[in-house]
Amino acid sequence: MQEFDWKNNVDNREQKQKLAKRIAKRVKDGDIIGFGSGSTSYLAVEEIAKRVHEENLKIKAIPTSTIIEEICKKLKIETITLSEAKPDWCFDGADEVDLHNWLIKGMGAALYREKMNIKASEENYILVDSSKFVEKLGQNHPVPVECKIDKIDIVKEALKKLGATNVEIKESNVGEGMLITDNGNALLFAEFPKIEPNFEEEINKIDGVVENGLFIGYNLIIIK
Ligand code: A5P
Repeated sequence: MQEFDWKNNVDNREQKQKLAKRIAKRVKDGDIIGFGSGSTSYLAVEEIAKRVHEENLKIKAIPTSTIIEEICKKLKIETITLSEAKPDWCFDGADEVDLHNWLIKGMGAALYREKMNIKASEENYILVDSSKFVEKLGQNHPVPVECKIDKIDIVKEALKKLGATNVEIKESNVGEGMLITDNGNALLFAEFPKIEPNFEEEINKIDGVVENGLFIGYNLIIIK
């Protein structure tokens, strides 16, 4: 079931469209490309599809969510998985970028595969409009944490012990009850007054956590 409407629900559309066109210019025949999720990535996929068909380019996409995978199918872009090949390069959006290029991602619930792609690739482009830049990570968004449904209470407690002042379960946008990720898990939103550099690792050590939306210390190229 589709949870996010990345096609119609685009804030800062003009800026995101420009970023999408810029990243589409990088595409070369034969590339294997990690496709991010979110509205910026959606616009990038559309621009890439235009070039692919106009110039008859052969590319393969490794999508980070079922929605982006469906969009690739519609736009006739071949998709493969990370177990079949490593991406030559990836693009994705972000929810926040701080002064060290540390990110919060995953407000769109796709953080698990987004992080897998970024870890697998040596060249990662993060497309960010001006609303995404922050002085202090966590200033505008909570940290998304994907966790096993039967471990929600344990994870909430542990996040609070780590310093979270509030932890909410993300509700579904389309039906009743909680949002279920592509991997069949729950998504928690944890608000931290201060995010320490070891939090990405510490959160993942909590029993029941599958992945979190902190991207700290990755080699990223920020496109703005
Ligand atoms: C998806 O899970 C996210 O990581 C997105 O990349 C992030 O939420 C940015 O979204 P927009 O491109 O829609 O602003």
